[in-house]
Amino acid sequence: MYKFIIKGGKELKGTVKISGSKNASLPIIFAAILTKEAQIENVPNLRDTRTAVALLKDMGFETCFEKNTLFVREKEKIKTEADYELVRTMRASILSLGPLLAKYGKAKVSLPGGCAIGARPINFHLKALSKLGAEISIDHGYINATVKGRLKGAEIVFDKPTVGGTENLLMAAVLAKGKTVIKNAAKEPEIVDLANALKKAGAIIEGEGTDTIEITGVEELSKIDYTVMPDRIEAGTFISFIATAGGEITIEDCPYDTIEAVVQKFKEAGLTIEKLNNVTIKIKKEGKLKATDITTQVYPGFPTDMQAQFMAAMCLAEGVSIIKETIFENRFQHVLELLRLGANITIDGNTAIVKGVEKLIGAKVMATDLRASASLVAAGLAAENTTEIYRIYHLERGYENLEKKLQSLGAYIEKVKAEKPF
Ligand code: EPZ
Repeated sequence: MYKFIIKGGKELKGTVKISGSKNASLPIIFAAILTKEAQIENVPNLRDTRTAVALLKDMGFETCFEKNTLFVREKEKIKTEADYELVRTMRASILSLGPLLAKYGKAKVSLPGGCAIGARPINFHLKALSKLGAEISIDHGYINATVKGRLKGAEIVFDKPTVGGTENLLMAAVLAKGKTVIKNAAKEPEIVDLANALKKAGAIIEGEGTDTIEITGVEELSKIDYTVMPDRIEAGTFISFIATAGGEITIEDCPYDTIEAVVQKFKEAGLTIEKLNNVTIKIKKEGKLKATDITTQVYPGFPTDMQAQFMAAMCLAEGVSIIKETIFENRFQHVLELLRLGANITIDGNTAIVKGVEKLIGAKVMATDLRASASLVAAGLAAENTTEIYRIYHLERGYENLEKKLQSLGAYIEKVKAEKPF
């Protein structure tokens, strides 16, 4: 096991390039199941994307993943199963269910199991796939889904917008017979990226990025040949690093149009953020930030995946910030670790009250989930003395070469072996 050692108090300077999006890559990788062949560029080299590739390989697809390019080819015999051993390490494996069902008429996918940030059931996915004609049963921890002939288009209304549910349905519907309409769909940019990859391979989709998506099924798709969008949450995370550590950086390959809610809140707090062009921004911290409230919402509202990083910045702001988490019921685990660094935060249900302090002081802290760990890096970059972050495998699920990128901006961060029993 490894840990990060961070010596804080150094301002950041220079330029950083954003990697491909984890949350766009994952559904696009599973969309390869729908075709005979796929070539996907700009796929970040992460624990999660490698798990998705391992799942396809385990199903019998030929795969080659090098230098952020993934090739996938269908082979004769495909096992339409997603095993517990792989699924338990990555919930997004559930996104193989729709494509397997649509392409092969059957799928056996392990139930995802628990998650640190909330219960995260998949009931909306199963209910919607049943409406397309799938027979679904749950047995010994596995979802068994079958359909006689092709899935059939239908009207789906989600009880509430779900990113994964919308993606699973979209992938199932592109090969279904007839038209599917998804109402109260999620509007996240990663869904638009998936739809663009499918449309390039011959799918008929309208309304992606709105709350109503219409899909007219086709018999088959041609090769998926697509370049994944940059990671908007990674871009937002680097903005939070300037908000805590200070300095001035340029972010390249920044999907600016997809992070406006994040940029707006950091500007409100006092950061200077300048758009140089559609994919390049400059960020500068001049003086202490001021307390700013956020409420996480579905897109285009403030993303829940940036809540923890924003909280780290508010720990050093002037005044009291109110941070409300409305998407996941257990996404404040970073609070106890930030308290270890000297922050002043109280929790009341889904609301955190953050009183800004003069400074944070380095300590040993534990990563609990992907974005919580990013907030500990943000806090450690500002804290006096040394911060040691344990269980950084959480970070490596979603950030490509994080410590190297930070070192190139002048941060003192090192990845070293953690002493037992961590
Ligand atoms: C996606 O998760 C992202 N993951 C998450 O990012 C992100 O936090 C989330 O969307 C919200 O933006 C990927 O894209 C791989 P949802 P997903 O279905 O699809 C409830 C990260 O840090 N719900 O939109 O699982 C659910 O419990 C990760 O990169 C049901 O009740 O999110 C939650 O409260 C973390 N039943 C809400 O809806 C269902 O069947 C939104 O979940 C489905 C969801």
